Amino acid sequence: MTVDPPDRPSPRRCVCPGSFDPVTSGHVDVVRRAAALFDEVVVAVLANPAKRGLFTPAERQDLLRDSLLDTPGVRVEVVDGGLLVDYCRRIEAVAVVKGLRSGTDFAYELPMALMNRHLTGLETVFLPGDPHLEHVSSSLVKEVAGHGGDVSGLVPDAVLPRLLERLAHPLP
Ligand code: PNS
Repeated sequence: MTVDPPDRPSPRRCVCPGSFDPVTSGHVDVVRRAAALFDEVVVAVLANPAKRGLFTPAERQDLLRDSLLDTPGVRVEVVDGGLLVDYCRRIEAVAVVKGLRSGTDFAYELPMALMNRHLTGLETVFLPGDPHLEHVSSSLVKEVAGHGGDVSGLVPDAVLPRLLERLAHPLP
């Protein structure tokens, strides 16, 4: 008698989307916590063609990978345009995970979460941001570091030297 192998349930995959220009310690905290909740986390670098960043999408992907080396179950992809819901459907992700630092974040994120659910039923899971990192955003980190302020601890160790180097020598 042969025994069929048990059906392997498909992995519960979520997506952490963002521009990550560059990844901050707040982002890393959210991705790590998402990795504890889901079988697999895909960190999706969504390049905004209308907005030139400090880092190219491929560089942001490298910085994310180096910052998440110690977190199993995470991969980092660059998504070249299109809707987030279509990407999530393509890779069979069941949810988007986002961190919320404040009511301002909620006001920004809620319409997108509702629109994504309207479009395909894609759910969004909000995780409260670490209160110690509530003031941390990619744009503030760039501004402070650009004026010589100390941002150590606010970005992963792998990011700090490359951030300072890029601010000193921006892309042409
Ligand atoms: O880090 P950000 O810039 O706040 O991330 C916003 C992002 C990239 C997650 C959002 O703009 C997005 O999902 N863009 C993909 C295009 C899309 O699906 N737009 C409709 C959103 S309802």
